[in-house]
Amino acid sequence: MSFRVRPCADLGEYGRAIHGVGQYFGMEIDAESEERFTRLLPLDRMHAAFDGADIVGGAGAFPFQLSTPGGTVPTAGVTVVGTYPTHRRRGVLRALMRAQLDDVHERGEPLAALWASSETIYGRFGYGPASMCGSIDLATEHTAFAMPGRREGSVRLVEADEALRSFPRIWSAVRRSTPGMLARSRDWWEGRVLRERGGEVGAGPKRFVVYERAGRAEGYAIYRHRQELRDDGTSAGEIKILEAIALDGVPTEEVWRYLLSIDWTSRFTARLLPPDHPLFLLLATPRRLQYRMSDGFWARLVDVGAALSARRYAADGAVVVEVADAFCPWNEGRWRIADGRGKRTRAAAHLRCDVAALGSAYMGGFTFAQLVRGGRIEELRRGAAVRADAMFAGGRHPWCPEIF
Ligand SMILES: CC(C)(COP(=O)(O)OP(=O)(O)OC[C@H]1O[C@@H](n2cnc3c(N)ncnc32)[C@H](O)[C@@H]1OP(=O)(O)O)[C@@H](O)C(=O)NCCC(=O)NCCS
Repeated sequence: MSFRVRPCADLGEYGRAIHGVGQYFGMEIDAESEERFTRLLPLDRMHAAFDGADIVGGAGAFPFQLSTPGGTVPTAGVTVVGTYPTHRRRGVLRALMRAQLDDVHERGEPLAALWASSETIYGRFGYGPASMCGSIDLATEHTAFAMPGRREGSVRLVEADEALRSFPRIWSAVRRSTPGMLARSRDWWEGRVLRERGGEVGAGPKRFVVYERAGRAEGYAIYRHRQELRDDGTSAGEIKILEAIALDGVPTEEVWRYLLSIDWTSRFTARLLPPDHPLFLLLATPRRLQYRMSDGFWARLVDVGAALSARRYAADGAVVVEVADAFCPWNEGRWRIADGRGKRTRAAAHLRCDVAALGSAYMGGFTFAQLVRGGRIEELRRGAAVRADAMFAGGRHPWCPEIF
């Protein structure tokens, strides 16, 4: 059975399309929240699937810019994907993905990215895991730092309105050197980052701190202090670090020194930290972080040539990749990556892969050598993977500090 899919025409349709996924998470959104959400996810970026007159699923795409190694790329941030339980496994998701990727392509967004609730769903549509990230759960007794540090600057608690003025600049500065971070609009900061969104009952309000050195804001953190007292009067509380962003070096160290020294807690938790996070070097006993790694965001090259041209390359050279893309056949064929561009070519291929594997390599989250070893890329010319890796090296692991 095929389902009709089109962008939502009004707020009523919008709400029912979002309910496609919302119902699995107990989401009850009112008209006011829906209206606010349209500032981030416009009506025409929310597709609805219809069975007759009834909406039976939905898929959205935030329009944003994602940082790449040395650049930025217009990206469809795929979100709120869901099929009503009455219609599961009848092709609703497939119809939604078809309409959405066609739309993204027509809009000229070279990349689509998402966080996969389950790893088994999106590979068939050309998405590959593009980064890894992990959570930490550090007990208070293991927060000693490896080195005394320089101890410069200071940390100040601020209210949300001041955070709105100072945090975005720090985010933008870090974003410039970190692939995988999205450019946040003011609405995004207000509506998603700083605002209390409920659903965290008992976890304590969001606290905001800014780190300043020589009069300049160079780092910030957002956290909650969930308090819980034991019968013996000690704390079983938790500092939930929602976001800690700072310039490299001293600012990063000082923000973490502040967070990990907060009293009246038993543990410090954080999620979505990249595997190359400086904490592993800052702490005296990094294994106590109990770092648990998982896949981070996934990427799909919607326009292979434009996406490959929207990043910088660390080394000169040329490599030809033969790309298979059954779902978006306009990408199929051989692509020569050289001089900072990806262009169609008739030259013989050095590497052969599915578009999903290229998505994994795109930001440097996985190396070509890794993908060859894992059977995701075929090396047709010896040494091609090493050459491609020298070109694609980004210097740091892609990091998207938020699930969108
Ligand atoms: C996951 C979900 C979106 C799938 O929707 P659906 O309409 O049942 O999927 P479709 O019938 O279009 O299936 C499309 C393909 O995906 C496969 N598939 C669907 N759900 C899958 C799952 N959970 N695991 C593995 N494969 C899955 C189908 O077998 C089918 O494969 P094929 O086309 O190669 O034969 C739906 O079950 C759902 O809404 N789940 C709860 C919310 C959720 O997880 N949303 C995703 C947020 S990232």
